[in-house]
Amino acid sequence: MPDDPARSARFVPPTITPPEAPLPRFRAMWTLMDNPIEAWPRAVYEEPYLLRENNAQKFLYVTDPAMLKTILLDRTDAFPKDWMFERVTKPALGEGLLTAQGAHWRWQRRAAAPGFRPQNIEPMAGAMVAAAEAALGRWRERGDGARLDVAREMTAITFDVILETMLSGGEGIDAATAAKRITDYLETLGRVTPADFLQLPLWTRIALAPRGYRALVELKAMVDRMIQRRRREAARGDLVDLLMAAEDPETGRRMSNELLRDNLLTFIGAGHETTALALTWSLYLLGSVPEAAARVRAEVAEVVGEGRVIAGHVERLTFTRQVIQEAMRLYPSLPIMSRMCAEDVQVGDLAVTKGTFVFIAVYALHRHRALWRDPDAFDPDRFSAAESERRHRFAYLPFGGGPRVCIGQGFAMMEAVAVLATLVRGATLVPDPGHRIRPVVRVSMRPEGGMPMTLRL
Ligand code: HEM
Repeated sequence: MPDDPARSARFVPPTITPPEAPLPRFRAMWTLMDNPIEAWPRAVYEEPYLLRENNAQKFLYVTDPAMLKTILLDRTDAFPKDWMFERVTKPALGEGLLTAQGAHWRWQRRAAAPGFRPQNIEPMAGAMVAAAEAALGRWRERGDGARLDVAREMTAITFDVILETMLSGGEGIDAATAAKRITDYLETLGRVTPADFLQLPLWTRIALAPRGYRALVELKAMVDRMIQRRRREAARGDLVDLLMAAEDPETGRRMSNELLRDNLLTFIGAGHETTALALTWSLYLLGSVPEAAARVRAEVAEVVGEGRVIAGHVERLTFTRQVIQEAMRLYPSLPIMSRMCAEDVQVGDLAVTKGTFVFIAVYALHRHRALWRDPDAFDPDRFSAAESERRHRFAYLPFGGGPRVCIGQGFAMMEAVAVLATLVRGATLVPDPGHRIRPVVRVSMRPEGGMPMTLRL
């Protein structure tokens, strides 16, 4: 389609240049802690898998959709979440939905699922648009030409949305303090540290990250206070009520205050940072390709109408959604998922042995040379219905796959589309040409040093 303006403007945003061969041992260790993706050799982007061995420990990087289907769906029982993931996430998220395994995970998933059904999520679009409008209001006060850290702005919006939609306004939780504590935690205790590689006792993680630990204690206390109050009050029909009332149909079991807190922290933790990053990268890409931003604006004008409320039309903003899908392909919020092989099992033509660390290399999968045309270029049209249909379901995994697929996927996509459409209609954001964009992985994939952009009203 040479006359399609977005297609003709080829834009290749900053990417990580992989080393030609696996890095030598100590450099690899250092890189894995600094920015793990920079340690992945080119083969991860070109071959179906890469198997490495270090001190008798096997590491398998997988980017073949059929193999990924086996791992995430067909033989999910043989690939539970690994001890490293548990070490890093359990101090904050305890036995909640993201971290629990086996039967304890299954009943929680059954209990939480109704809260995420489309009929429960759709009415939340209004709150999502309102949070974006509030941000536009703040920006207008700062005036044309203001410099914004878009990464921070998006985190503020998505945090407002979680509080408003899931916790009925989050009374008693001060949004600004909580957001700061979450950042404190993610930058310290929420990271993989040398103590983890060396498998030092768990208390060493806390000793190495006192700021993160204090942040976590404060966050837990905030949520505990809210739960105690909500137990005494009448139901409001939000996610808190839903989880309080949830009962395992098999055992009659209900969530204790502690498990409820683990899950609310899970939703806050898993839900707002990831969505904020998807929006940050989308705005950066649209700022770099004004033709694509113009297409979003034209779509909003056509589908919604000038000056009319966006909520209620989100489902039909097809191109806006494609921009977000493409942003999450190029910069997946969670660029690595990991599993541990719990028994010898055949995966494609590879016999995977018990104890192998399995990395689902989402960032490389999304730029794999055999799966995508022009893999590093920004092109939202690759998510047109026709092209998406031709693609293997496990070639694109921003939300994971199989039974442990993200429970908040529908919520996140609706939020991202509603917020992006609102912001792009109300303002233009121009990337700072003097700022070098370096994608770094701190569990999630974020732009190092934030995303400075200039506001044009
Ligand atoms: C763009 C936004 C989001 C992205 C990219 C994302 C990504 C993911 C991914 C990749 C997984 C699977 C992890 C694995 O299998 O190892 C996951 C799981 C999960 N996500 Fe999300 N997520 C997003 C938004 C949300 C939201 C809004 C919520 C809740 C409000 C949420 C809650 C969860 C939970 C609870 C799990 C664990 C599910 C289970 O194991 O049963 N996520 N997410």
